Amino acid sequence: MKHLLNPLDLSVEEIDEILDLANDIEANPEKYAHACDGKKLATLFYEPSTRTRLSHEAAMMNLGGNVLGFSSADSSSATKGESVSDTIRMISCYADICAMRHPKEGAPMVASQYSSIPIINAGDGGHQHPTQTLTDLLTIRSEKGRLHDITIGLCGDLKFGRTVHSLIHALVRYENVKFVLISPEELRLPSYIRKDVLDKHNIPYEEVVRLEDAMGKLDLLYMTRVQKERFFNEEDYVRMKDFYILDAAKMELAKEDMLVLHPLPRVNEISVEVDRDPRAIYFKQAQYGVYVRMALILTLLEIKVS
Ligand code: CP
Repeated sequence: MKHLLNPLDLSVEEIDEILDLANDIEANPEKYAHACDGKKLATLFYEPSTRTRLSHEAAMMNLGGNVLGFSSADSSSATKGESVSDTIRMISCYADICAMRHPKEGAPMVASQYSSIPIINAGDGGHQHPTQTLTDLLTIRSEKGRLHDITIGLCGDLKFGRTVHSLIHALVRYENVKFVLISPEELRLPSYIRKDVLDKHNIPYEEVVRLEDAMGKLDLLYMTRVQKERFFNEEDYVRMKDFYILDAAKMELAKEDMLVLHPLPRVNEISVEVDRDPRAIYFKQAQYGVYVRMALILTLLEIKVS
């Protein structure tokens, strides 16, 4: 049985197959409408979510399956002290596959060790968010036409932003990908990712503080919000939260075909005026998230549709 805990759990070939399947699902949704009849997805969300939980649920419903779960630790027996390992033993009796979000890094990995059903890591603390990465890869491949030969700017909270950490792990496996890391000093990409992932694989990257200094060289700009929930004090968050605001004036510095992605939710880091720019594809990106999660569920459940 296979789980998805980290983007590297999937080979480049397996990712290609999932993205191909997602494209086919987008083109032929009726073909897949009963693929998961009788199957159940459990969504165990110990942390808030809009997109990840609801897109997993929409994905399973689109496949003809059913969903059950909880959307906060407060409404589960975690409040009575139940461990993740005991909870997943129960859920294995109730569902066929599980998506779990947890504030503690590694919680979905612990769950996988006690589970008899596939576990999807739907975000664990500041660590990884592999289904967001699949969403990002599908968006880039579908809208840009390739995952290689790109310069991507990652902007905002690169310290706590798990979507960025997962995306870097995934993209370094493609040819000629360059990174421009755009962050304030306090929110730099952790050194363990710079050294163990970028330096180790000789991946070209530069670090800049000003977004304006990066705009002109990017094929893709991946904006992120400052992760309020990971800060130890409110004062530091307030100081950092509006460090970057992408607006129409900054978009004028970008290439005509540069695309703007954001895992969402957006706070202030992208002005709403940018939404009208055809290069802003973050809402379309969220739609791709449903197709790719449908493809992932089919893959992990080993369901083939001919
Ligand atoms: N992108 C993302 O993880 O959004 P949610 O927190 O709403 O799930």
